[in-house]
Order: sequence, then C-alpha cells, then structure tokens
Amino acid sequence: MRFAGKRAVVTGGASGIGRATALRLAEEGAAVIVGDIDEAGGRALADASNGRITFRRTDVTQAGEIETLLDSAGGLDVLFNNAGAGGAREPIDEISPEAWDRTQALLLRSVALGIRYAAPAMAKRGGGAIVNTASVAALGAGYAPTAYSTAKAGVLHLTRMAAADLARHNIRVNAVLPGFIATNIFAASLGLEGDRRDQANAAIAGMAAEAQPIRRTGRPEDIAAAVAFLASDDAAFVTGAHLLVDGGLTIGPRHSWDPAAPSLFAALEQLPA
Ligand code: NAI
Repeated sequence: MRFAGKRAVVTGGASGIGRATALRLAEEGAAVIVGDIDEAGGRALADASNGRITFRRTDVTQAGEIETLLDSAGGLDVLFNNAGAGGAREPIDEISPEAWDRTQALLLRSVALGIRYAAPAMAKRGGGAIVNTASVAALGAGYAPTAYSTAKAGVLHLTRMAAADLARHNIRVNAVLPGFIATNIFAASLGLEGDRRDQANAAIAGMAAEAQPIRRTGRPEDIAAAVAFLASDDAAFVTGAHLLVDGGLTIGPRHSWDPAAPSLFAALEQLPA
C-alpha cells in the first residue's frame, strides 16, 4: 500500500501501459484519475475499479484539457505522463510540417504541459513524483519512426531538466523506457481494428519474444511495476533518472546474446586462408 492516501493522475490510462499502471497504483492504495480520449475504455476501467479509478475524457494535445484534468484531482501526489500513439511514420525527407507538429504535440508537448500544470499542485502539498513514458526509441534508431523517436528523446531530456527545476519543491521527475510491450499501439498506428487488430497483436507478441534476450513478450504490467517504484517513496532518492524496462532489447546486437545468430567475427573466421 505504498500509495495509501495519495492522489494520482494517469494519462493514456484507458489501455495498455497506462491501464496497467492505473490498476497497480489503485491496488496499492491511490485514488486514481485516468485521462484519455478513449471514453469507452476509460469508463469500462473506472466501472470495474470499485470506485478507486475515475475517468475524465482528456485530449493531451489540448493544454486546457490537461490543466482541467489535473485540477480535477483536487490535490496531486503522482502524475504519470503516458498517453501516446505511433505518430507520423514518414522519413524526415517526406514528413509535412503539420504531421511533425501533431506528433510532437502528442508525445512531447503533452508531457511538458503535464509537468507544467502538475508542479504547482504538488508543491502545495510539499512535493510529489512525476513519471514520464519515454521509450527505447529515445536511445537509438531502428525502434520507431523519426518523429516519434525524436519526441521520446525530448521526453528523456525534459525529464532531466524538469528534475533539476523542481527539486527545490521536493518534486521528483523520472522516466520509464519501455522496450517492446504487447499493447494496441502497433495495430492502432496501422489503423487495424477487430480481428485484424487481434491477429496483429498476436503476431507482435510472437516477434517480441525473438527480439530480446529475455525471450518472453513484454507486458504492460512489467512497466506498471517500474512506474510504481519510481512514483513511490522507495525511489525517494531517485530523480532525473531513466529506467529501461526492455527485456534486454538495447543490450547489444543479437549475436551478443544469441549464440545462433551470425556475428561479424564468425564471418571473418570463415574467410579462406
Ligand atoms: P496503447 O495504445 O495501449 O495506449 C495508449 C493510450 O493513449 C490509449 O488509451 C489512447 O487512447 C491514449 N491516447 C492517445 N492519444 C491521446 C490523446 N491525444 N489524449 C489522451 N490520450 C490519448 O499504447 P501503450 O503501448 O500502452 O502506450 C503508452 C505509452 O507507452 C505511449 O507513450 C507509447 O509511446 C509508450 N511506449 C510504448 C511501447 C510499446 O512497445 N507498447 C514502447 C515504448 C513506449
């Protein structure tokens, strides 16, 4: 019950990582408010939560809606800035200014504004904890499209800057970097629904098990556990940090952890003498 008596806001909490985290925080005693554009998902979660989770429709690309969401908590101890989607998929030489702006507004500006509006409410209560969802895509190419990866790299550095700015108010700011987690985000970014979405999700779960040294699929609950740690007093001396939760996806190239994968050295050894 690390969050007994605490108030938490989770954005993007109607599905996937946000949903699992809202449930985890509520299980550990928090009163949780979920903000999301998915009304059906948000209301279903709230209805099944025995009053521990409430839902408020919120589009995090709209500054006023973020502010209203945070105000509605009536005092705030924990904020999980997590809402997101795949964003624009074009390479940099084809993307439009509008598509670039939309992706940054959803993935980076929303986090900045969440912190902006949460900080005064937390300071008033003597402190608080903010966790932002970045991604392994913040660290390198090859995990996600350019606009998304750039926004997530921004979230990572924003986390450090906000931690520096807000330490004087006893507010900690950290980031979680999920690897390949089985959620609807992949199917949604391809516009798949119904059976096609379920098929895509099953295929993605299978691929994930091949992509990283820990060969099982990453689950939303894996991220929720990390977020709960960062948001709790167990992490009281942790700020400006990022926690990779990726099954080892970013450890190194596949041949470093899979003896069956060909390495450059193995190829060189086989050159004719
Ligand atoms: P998801 O699709 O299951 O959940 C995302 C939620 O955000 C949905 O409920 C959606 O309705 C909501 N959302 C989208 N646009 C919104 C808006 N404008 N305002 C409010 N809510 C909005 O996906 P998932 O995977 O749980 O994604 C959560 C976060 O994790 C995202 O920031 C994503 O970029 C990040 N992430 C996910 C990874 C994965 O492998 N699933 C890997 C790394 C990062």
